[in-house]
Amino acid sequence: MIRWPRLLLWLLLAIPAALMITDLAGGALAMDLYHPSGEMAVRLMILALLPGPLVDAFGPNRFLRGWIAVRRNLGVAAFLYGLLHLFFYVLDMQMVSAMIGELAIPGIWTGWVALITMAAPAALSFDAALRRLGRRWKRWQRLVYPAFLVALVHWLLLDWAWLPAFIHLAPVMLAWALRFTMRRRKIQRSVA
Ligand code: HEM
Repeated sequence: MIRWPRLLLWLLLAIPAALMITDLAGGALAMDLYHPSGEMAVRLMILALLPGPLVDAFGPNRFLRGWIAVRRNLGVAAFLYGLLHLFFYVLDMQMVSAMIGELAIPGIWTGWVALITMAAPAALSFDAALRRLGRRWKRWQRLVYPAFLVALVHWLLLDWAWLPAFIHLAPVMLAWALRFTMRRRKIQRSVA
């Protein structure tokens, strides 16, 4: 049976990719599409990372429950945008030897590490994997955190612009700070 809200979400998530492909077909250079594809991957990772700590901090209200329900889709979409970003890189470089030649550059290998680290949680984000892995499933999903941090380092090393990478790190740091503050308050209240 088709689940319409999820289908709608995927249609929305596909719009930026469709616009990038249209740009490419219209003559844009593959290198001009690094920015929108890389940034989209990072932003979707943030959207997948935020609801967990926010539910811990504020409790599971209706909005956050809905967000949690689509979290896996957001993570998979982040990985797919990472793959699209790689596709633009392959088009830009044109030759495998040129890509291999760049592998030693820290700004480049960090991109590969981020993408490979994202691959495991994305591949294991389906119901069948959840059922099979049981408790271990969460451990695999936690790989998204190092993947996110490495993606930010990749960005920083390529652009040397601290502000955009920091702005993208800030909401995740804030959500974690809220999680810890609220947890500590709960513990203090239960002890008092
Ligand atoms: C397959 C591995 C990857 C390679 C080879 C790669 C390569 C590149 C290159 C060549 C650039 C452009 C640098 C420049 O000239 O400005 C770039 C930018 C970027 N990449 Fe990657 N990347 C990879 C994976 C990723 C992943 C997995 C993410 C995110 C999850 C990501 C996020 C970004 C971001 C945010 C930018 C900066 C865009 C900008 O503001 O210009 N990359 N990447």
